[in-house]
Amino acid sequence: MHSHELVQHFERSFGQSPRIFRAPGRVNLIGEHTDYNDGFVMPAAVGFSTYVAITERPDRKLLIHSKEFPEHFKFDLDRLPESRTRRWCDYVLGVARVLQQRGYSLPGANLLVHGDVPIGAGLSSSAAIEVASALAMISVGKFEIALPEVAKLCRQAENEFVGARVGIMDQFVACMAKKGQALLLDCRSLDFQFVPIPSAIRLVVCNTMVKHDLATGAYNTRREECEQGVRYFASKNPEVRALRDVSVEMLERYADDLPAVIRKRCTHVVRENQRTIALSQSLAAGDWSRVGQLMRDSHRSLRDLYEVSCRELDVMVDAAEGLPGFVGGRMTGGGFGGCTINLVRYSDADEFAAKVAEFYREATGITPQTYLCSAGEGAGEVS
Ligand code: GLA
Repeated sequence: MHSHELVQHFERSFGQSPRIFRAPGRVNLIGEHTDYNDGFVMPAAVGFSTYVAITERPDRKLLIHSKEFPEHFKFDLDRLPESRTRRWCDYVLGVARVLQQRGYSLPGANLLVHGDVPIGAGLSSSAAIEVASALAMISVGKFEIALPEVAKLCRQAENEFVGARVGIMDQFVACMAKKGQALLLDCRSLDFQFVPIPSAIRLVVCNTMVKHDLATGAYNTRREECEQGVRYFASKNPEVRALRDVSVEMLERYADDLPAVIRKRCTHVVRENQRTIALSQSLAAGDWSRVGQLMRDSHRSLRDLYEVSCRELDVMVDAAEGLPGFVGGRMTGGGFGGCTINLVRYSDADEFAAKVAEFYREATGITPQTYLCSAGEGAGEVS
């Protein structure tokens, strides 16, 4: 995206020169459905971004336009909707409401949103628009809010206003990502460390083109199943506050008495946390066969135990096996469609993407998209 185009569009719409804020989409290398269990995740920002251009208004109106969507929205800051409107402006509104709830008094503003993060593809287009809008509104309000706090308030907006009970991963990495690095995050303490992605490795993201919608059903059901697991393990050991606190030993000792579905969900989460730590170590050590095995295990566990994969994702994952330069791959994000993430030797990445796409098209009849990515920077102002 050329920011001068966005500036021009903004000037035509609102007759003023804006400031522009950007936040990236993400892929998660490993640690899936662990964030809301206080566990570990290891995402990285990718080259897609959402931009929000903004100027202050002298009145109490919030005008929200998009370069992609035709609808224009106009709200009164003193009477913002109390719950979602089921339109894309909800992400911006949710953030505005949370800022107000936290006592920040927002000035009126014109916003123009432009994004190239594929929507509903599991690459966190929602976190990107939330974080970019938050930074934009924070700038016109002249508030000082540290980035990890911005991530938390964006998550709150998505939980309470949009109605998806997501964890902190997407908003956090959108805020804090660093070029060339994956971010190993402890979702309980929010302590994190960067894990360099070797320059010989390319992130190849393959989009099944099957869409999901986290706000409806299955994601929130998984959360409830985990909570049921927590209640059970807490009855065995009162120190357990989240599945994060359940050790492999506890799992093996007590899990047999759980209903089968809950046992499967808990087994996934407990072991996925271990795999996430192990992947950060094997990536740093350059142990590619271990990296590959951990990603494969993660996918199988999401498919068979957590049951959030789908046929198209499984086909896309299988398509990668055995191709030259392939290190490891799995579904990424919430599941039920969306993308796979593949670590591939740099020089083989183009060929790899073409082969996977061909295999997938033949097996499913769907033409996929593939993106060759490197880990990018987190959110900030665009000059
Ligand atoms: C979605 C949510 C995240 C996380 C993943 C699954 O991306 O937004 O918080 O729970 O699903 O790992």
